[in-house]
Amino acid sequence: MAETEGKPQVLLFPFLAQGHIIPFLALALELEQTKKYNITILNTPLNIKNLRSSLPPNSSITLLEFPFTSSDHGLPPDTENTSAIPYHLVIRLIEASATLKPAFKNLVQNILAQKQKHKLFIIADIFYGWTATVAKELRVFHVIFSVCGAYGLACYYSLWVNLPHKCPGSAQRLVDSNEDQFILPDFPEARAIHRTQLPSNISEADVTDAWTMFQQKNLPEWVDSNGVLFNTVEEFDFVGLGYFKRKLGRPAWPIGPLLLSAGSGTLGKGGGIYTEWLNTKASKSVLFVNFGSMNTISASQMMGLGKALERSGKNFIWVVRPPIGFEINSKFREEWLPEGFGERIRESGKGLVVHDWVPQVEILSHFAVSTFLSHCGWNSVLESLSQGVPILGWPMAAEQFYNCKLLEEEVGVCVEVARGKSSEVKYEDIVAKIELVMDETEKGVMMRKKAGDIRDMIRDAVKDEDGFKGSSVRAMDEFLSAAGSHVPGGEKKIHLKE
Ligand SMILES: *[C@@H]1O[C@H](CO)[C@@H](O)[C@H](O)[C@H]1NC(C)=O
Ligand SMILES: *[C@@H]1O[C@H](CO)[C@@H](O)[C@H](O)[C@H]1NC(C)=O
Ligand SMILES: *[C@@H]1O[C@H](CO)[C@@H](O)[C@H](O)[C@H]1NC(C)=O
Ligand SMILES: *[C@@H]1O[C@H](CO)[C@@H](O)[C@H](O)[C@H]1NC(C)=O
Repeated sequence: MAETEGKPQVLLFPFLAQGHIIPFLALALELEQTKKYNITILNTPLNIKNLRSSLPPNSSITLLEFPFTSSDHGLPPDTENTSAIPYHLVIRLIEASATLKPAFKNLVQNILAQKQKHKLFIIADIFYGWTATVAKELRVFHVIFSVCGAYGLACYYSLWVNLPHKCPGSAQRLVDSNEDQFILPDFPEARAIHRTQLPSNISEADVTDAWTMFQQKNLPEWVDSNGVLFNTVEEFDFVGLGYFKRKLGRPAWPIGPLLLSAGSGTLGKGGGIYTEWLNTKASKSVLFVNFGSMNTISASQMMGLGKALERSGKNFIWVVRPPIGFEINSKFREEWLPEGFGERIRESGKGLVVHDWVPQVEILSHFAVSTFLSHCGWNSVLESLSQGVPILGWPMAAEQFYNCKLLEEEVGVCVEVARGKSSEVKYEDIVAKIELVMDETEKGVMMRKKAGDIRDMIRDAVKDEDGFKGSSVRAMDEFLSAAGSHVPGGEKKIHLKE
């Protein structure tokens, strides 16, 4: 007990979604390694229950739950994360999470009654701008932790704060023109964005919809924070980091990649069958296809992709979720794939079709895997790049379009194969892109080399040995030192322009 007494207390508060909770847990575990902090993760009861089973048994991290009853917010009973609800209710879950404000404020006040202000700091989610406002009022050091990359989030942030694009008379009518492409007024470095790269909740936004109402309150509250942590690496994401430094007049610290290593908690189990299968394949001969736990494609896209995988003649592991229109957890039906597909790939031994969770890191790190066909969710991107695996991008929602854009246009480790959940895809086009990336084409060779360079870059960023500190290690040091030396009210002295 005495050991943690007097240690600064850190509160970590992720949004109610697996893709947010996992990187927050990885960050908490990294902070725990320093042995300098008393760490608490905040969430709602069901997510805490789940977190408890993922926490290593020897961990000293405290899990603290706020009372939350989903049915009080027009959500189905016992649903507390985005995987448990259909897509259109995500905004309701976000709105419901803001009702935790009084409980959160109360907790912070209680801690302050026992501890000095400089002995407490808060790390909160991008959807919890309101926590920054509470922290500012109570004069506590606060940072946002973005589980998204900086470039992707910069495009996303810029789009929202420059809305309403359909609002009559708006000074910056972004997309309400006849142009197919436009430049973000405060982020021209990102160059042209195409209208098909707008997530539906942005392209459908008007002044009164729930998403607009939420984001136009949430995002501006970030200036009440003392900085933003990013699960990213400076060397390939500096453009987006620059945007936030300029926009918020606050530091943006790239501390990634924060990934849960295989073997921790419930993760990393059950890799056996995949490893066995992959062991029988030649080096860099397998395409891994997985759109993440929250995303799926249309029935006709799924048919097209199935046909393309077969025609390409490549080995593949494909994690198939029910197409749009079916419950995400409903039972697999053969008719979703081309006729005889399952039988043919079993006979040829070319493919493995999977319907449940897969040990993604383990698969990506296997020598037989060549390329990852991914929705470009940021956690998947980091897992792929950490293993030096190039990406065939199929972005579907939120900032995934801009992650894909960054990887293709700036970093050179990705080719976009399709866009969105409703576009028409021709299987011939998918085959051509698969061949472009996986075969000995000039582009393919270059991408593999580049992906290997990025893997090395990532290894260097987290290196802390023989007096060498990588960029992510230095950013973490700078952040912790800013948190430790924070003088309440002192942030006024920070100059808003560099
Ligand atoms: C660490 O934080 C938890 C949660 O607030 C608290 O219950 C505990 O007393 C703290 N431990 C120490 C030693 O300060
Ligand atoms: C999300 O909630 C469901 C129950 O509603 C639960 O089964 C699942 O484990 C939760 N996921 C996470 C990541 O907490
Ligand atoms: C828990 O055990 C693991 C494995 O032995 C070790 O790497 C980690 O540092 C330990 N964590 C703590 C907080 O002691
Ligand atoms: C709407 O925005 C949220 C928040 O970024 C995102 O999670 C969701 O995927 C978006 N929905 C669509 C349909 O793009």
